[in-house]
Amino acid sequence: MIAMDIETKETGPGGIDRRVGAGIRLKLFGFLLPLVFLLIVSVTWVVTEVTKSTLRRDLLQRGAAISRVVALSAGHSLLANDPLGLDRLVSETRASDPDIAFVAIRDNSDVVVAHDLVTERGKPYRAVPPLLPLGTFGDTRADEVVRDGRRLIEYTTPISFAGRHVGIASLGLSMQGLANAQRSIRRRIFAAAAVILVAAFFGTLLLSSFITTPVKRLHRGVLSLASSETFQPVPARSSDELGALTRNFNRMAETILAQKTALQKKALQLEEAYISMVRVIAASLDARDPYTMGHSTRVARMSCALGRRLGMSEGELSDLERAAIFHDLGKIQTPDDVLLKVDRLSRAEEEQMKNHPIDGTEILRMAPFLHRYIPVVRSHHEWYNGEGYPDGIRGGEIPLHAQLIALADAFDAMTTDRPYRQALSEEAAITEILRFRGTQFSPELADAFAKMMRETPPMDETILKSMAL
Ligand SMILES: [Fe+2]
Repeated sequence: MIAMDIETKETGPGGIDRRVGAGIRLKLFGFLLPLVFLLIVSVTWVVTEVTKSTLRRDLLQRGAAISRVVALSAGHSLLANDPLGLDRLVSETRASDPDIAFVAIRDNSDVVVAHDLVTERGKPYRAVPPLLPLGTFGDTRADEVVRDGRRLIEYTTPISFAGRHVGIASLGLSMQGLANAQRSIRRRIFAAAAVILVAAFFGTLLLSSFITTPVKRLHRGVLSLASSETFQPVPARSSDELGALTRNFNRMAETILAQKTALQKKALQLEEAYISMVRVIAASLDARDPYTMGHSTRVARMSCALGRRLGMSEGELSDLERAAIFHDLGKIQTPDDVLLKVDRLSRAEEEQMKNHPIDGTEILRMAPFLHRYIPVVRSHHEWYNGEGYPDGIRGGEIPLHAQLIALADAFDAMTTDRPYRQALSEEAAITEILRFRGTQFSPELADAFAKMMRETPPMDETILKSMAL
């Protein structure tokens, strides 16, 4: 039962220890049960010893009383030489108590004149050595003896009548009765001790539940608060310290959640402000070159349309759209005489142009919540066969969003006029993209892009409506 409650230690969000309950319960059991056990054993031992002593004392006194009664009753009959009276006295005494093993009356010559066993009459009294003297009760002496193989308490009481000593009454009392009584009492005490022990076990279980149940509820509340699940107030069902703690926890959790919501709202507003600013920068960048006006927006629309066809979620599409808007942000650092150059670029100028993905990542690095766009912006000029730049990564190493942007980027570049050439037709641009499937572009993505562009004109209203741009 205890082992079932033990949970493995887990560390959740924010280093939250997910273990609960078993520690307190184990401690309660570990402390209370041994204590109760020791208490029960001690009380059982004391009660057993006291009972044994009481029973033994009662038996000794009872036997001594009977022996005295026999001695008192036998005096007259012994002096009057009345064997019938003595026989009746002996047999009645013997029959009065099942613990009486024998009754004997002897005269001053130690000859048995009356005995419950007829065979003993008229014979000298068979004295046996005492094993243990048990004391005297008035004029009666008690000894523990073994007679005919049985352990007995033997009482000896002198018989006097009219001031004369006329004989001795002997009474044997079996110790079996005492042993039986002691065994019976011991059984009852042990049964009571077992019941108390079981009750203590369940009592401890109940007590631990009173403590661990609210603690577990609080723990679950802390976990739900820490893991940003929908927080449900923890029920406070008592008015004790744990109840007060639970109510205060609920109030604290509500405050934290309200502050968290306000912070998230502020962060979202801040992020939107930053993104709007970057959009403006991207649009300004496009506007630097009349030939690339609106390039980022068109690239974002086409890559998102392809992403939607590939089954991307709204969240992924939102990230893709932003990354597409930012993809050429690094060109802000490219001088106009390089960016707007009509003639062929020199090798140095080409290298300067090729640096714009890295420059873009450096700009995005300035705001932590723009960091997630860095891999895509950095890799939008990588080639499927690894011959792209700046890192020369290949195939699946290139982020999927960067591969989509690369397709839209190439298509838009080919279908817009440049100072040094006329725009290609859309079909010619698609053919060109397919010519580079497996080298510059992923074959599957190039096919999907071509299919999309042929099925739906690039800036068709259907696409525009399907995109949250
Ligand atoms: Fe670019």
